[in-house]
Amino acid sequence: MHRIAVLPGDGTGPEVVEEGLKVLETASDATGFKFEAVAYDFGGDRYLETGEVLPDEAVEELRSFRAIFLGAIGHPDVKPGILEHGILLKIRFAMDQYINLRPVKLYPGVDCPLKDKGPSDIDFVVVRENTEGLYVGSGGFVRKGTPEEVAIQESVNTRKGVERCIRYAFDYCRARDRDRKLTLCGKTNVLTYAHDLWERVFNEVAEEYPDITTDYAHVDAICMWFVKNPEWFDVVVTDNMFGDIITDLGAMIQGGMGIAAGGNINPDGTSMFEPIGGSAPKYTGKNMINPLAAISAVQMMLDFLGEKDASARVEKAIVKVLSSGKIKSLSAGQMGMGTTEVGDLVAKYVLEG
Ligand code: IPM
Ligand code: MN
Repeated sequence: MHRIAVLPGDGTGPEVVEEGLKVLETASDATGFKFEAVAYDFGGDRYLETGEVLPDEAVEELRSFRAIFLGAIGHPDVKPGILEHGILLKIRFAMDQYINLRPVKLYPGVDCPLKDKGPSDIDFVVVRENTEGLYVGSGGFVRKGTPEEVAIQESVNTRKGVERCIRYAFDYCRARDRDRKLTLCGKTNVLTYAHDLWERVFNEVAEEYPDITTDYAHVDAICMWFVKNPEWFDVVVTDNMFGDIITDLGAMIQGGMGIAAGGNINPDGTSMFEPIGGSAPKYTGKNMINPLAAISAVQMMLDFLGEKDASARVEKAIVKVLSSGKIKSLSAGQMGMGTTEVGDLVAKYVLEG
């Protein structure tokens, strides 16, 4: 029995989560695993009503789940940063979800903005460090608000944090067994302390993985290569901030936010899965938002839970829906189908196997 906490969150989050749960339910019927889903209403509305973002007691409660399924965080009436820090980043840090896993896969039938690139060219995974770097909140102001103001934001990179991320990436690359190629993305020519550590650890750990080809790319160059030669990449490992940036570029080349999903992984603890597109408040309640990213997040969650058969079925169903030509576009409002109809179709294909 898998215990899953569900945080539908803000905007269109609840709508896409509903479709994700529909598919989860169907996958459970089809393959026989059992799960219990417990919903929590944390998000912008609750914050505006009660002033509560995500209390520490709730975090403790969330620890009892193996996985969290998150819809979206972000409310137009809440100052940017409050919910992102108070919910998303709080959970990532509290649960020590030290990996942000972002598959970048172009499915057949999906429009790609890159000329002459197809599904066989775009199939890689970014392993982003998720608990360190510029995200730790280390730094501060001096003489704030004066002409002499100083603002410092430090990137924190620990040997332990860097090593566990790099080891995860090597293991992931081996298990994925595609090209067995791992690329370190950094900026060693400028970040001569932080990325010196990354490079040394990468090269050290690489010796334990003679079956994996290693490569290095500066972050600016990788942005160029993702567009020009995405077929070069199999698994990419990088720090928190660079990972944040390059995975949005990745999302665009795989067809946009309508399809992009991510996992915040603690291999030994509670992991969290989310569509990465945000809450898209203007589409709330209109049955116009694409639920495929949330359904992909469910697929990743099933994989994490060890339900490989169910996960494979869900991915197969997503591919079937996309190659059927029934969805006109992955963008909200342009699908030619409603949110619930897309969910129904995926669920139907999951049942059919
Ligand atoms: C992401 C998001 C978050 C991040 C924001 C919402 C804090 O952009 O998951 O990539 O920067 O990590
Ligand atoms: Mn981001």
